Amino acid sequence: MSEQPIGLVTGGAGGIGRAIAARLGAGGHHVLIADVDGAAADRTAGEFDGSAIALDVTDSASVNRAVADILDRHGRIDVLVNCAGIHIQKLVVDLTDDDWDRIQSVNARGSFLTCRAVARPMMKAGQGRIVNIVTRLGFGNPYSAAYMASKSAVWGMTQTLAVELAAYGITVNAVAPGHVGPGTGMEQHFRDKADALGLTWEAFEAQVLRTIPVGRWCAPEDVAAAVAYVTSPEADFVTGELINVTGGFTGYGVAPPREAV
Ligand SMILES: NC(=O)c1ccc[n+]([C@@H]2O[C@H](COP(=O)([O-])OP(=O)(O)OC[C@H]3O[C@@H](n4cnc5c(N)ncnc54)[C@H](O)[C@@H]3O)[C@@H](O)[C@H]2O)c1
Repeated sequence: MSEQPIGLVTGGAGGIGRAIAARLGAGGHHVLIADVDGAAADRTAGEFDGSAIALDVTDSASVNRAVADILDRHGRIDVLVNCAGIHIQKLVVDLTDDDWDRIQSVNARGSFLTCRAVARPMMKAGQGRIVNIVTRLGFGNPYSAAYMASKSAVWGMTQTLAVELAAYGITVNAVAPGHVGPGTGMEQHFRDKADALGLTWEAFEAQVLRTIPVGRWCAPEDVAAAVAYVTSPEADFVTGELINVTGGFTGYGVAPPREAV
């Protein structure tokens, strides 16, 4: 069994996942960058003390195989961070059945499959940390109904799993980033939203920043810092919590203009 703690980050090759992986690595973890984009996972793992895993979180065989391989190689999984996620930006009236299913499959089912796969090994070890990356919940976010539904599902699972695993020394928390646009795969979604609202990028950005009391975009490193806290020994007594990393953002999104129907 490895002496070094092992951290598994799904979506670890993405904008936020990479920052989380780097932060766990800096904190002494050997980090496994698990991503459906295997080449990007390889590149990211090469940047620090990490290993890459090509993994599709929607596929239980792929997830179970990856977890079994990690246990064979390292003998332990100390931290799981579910960061893999997708967004399809459409009004409810335009969402297709397939859009809905794809989003639930990656965001909700994917988080469930990885949580289920690591839970028993963590229970046997008598310790573990699970962190699910959701989004700011509890308000209307136009063009994002399927996405918000998927993240609400993950938050519901997080609360339940926190109770189910508490007796085994395992904490389960959620971290909710606010607007992490620039430098992440989600940037295009913000740009699409600006287009849909008929705004230039500059006008859209100014509108977004007015809703964030701290007055700037959330950085991937802000999210990574919250993950570092809930995975640290200082957070032994913190479980079933949702930590917002939003710069104080609490508002509803801007209503889309009325279309001809
Ligand atoms: N960027 C934001 O503003 C923002 C805000 C709130 C929440 N989030 C959440 O943060 C997380 C990371 O987002 P990001 O902005 O870094 O996006 P990103 O697109 O940069 O990263 C997502 C990563 O997930 C991977 N992925 C997609 N489908 C997968 C699958 N089936 N299996 C394995 N990996 C898969 C992608 O290849 C990508 O590397 C997501 O869960 C997202 O919903 C982002």
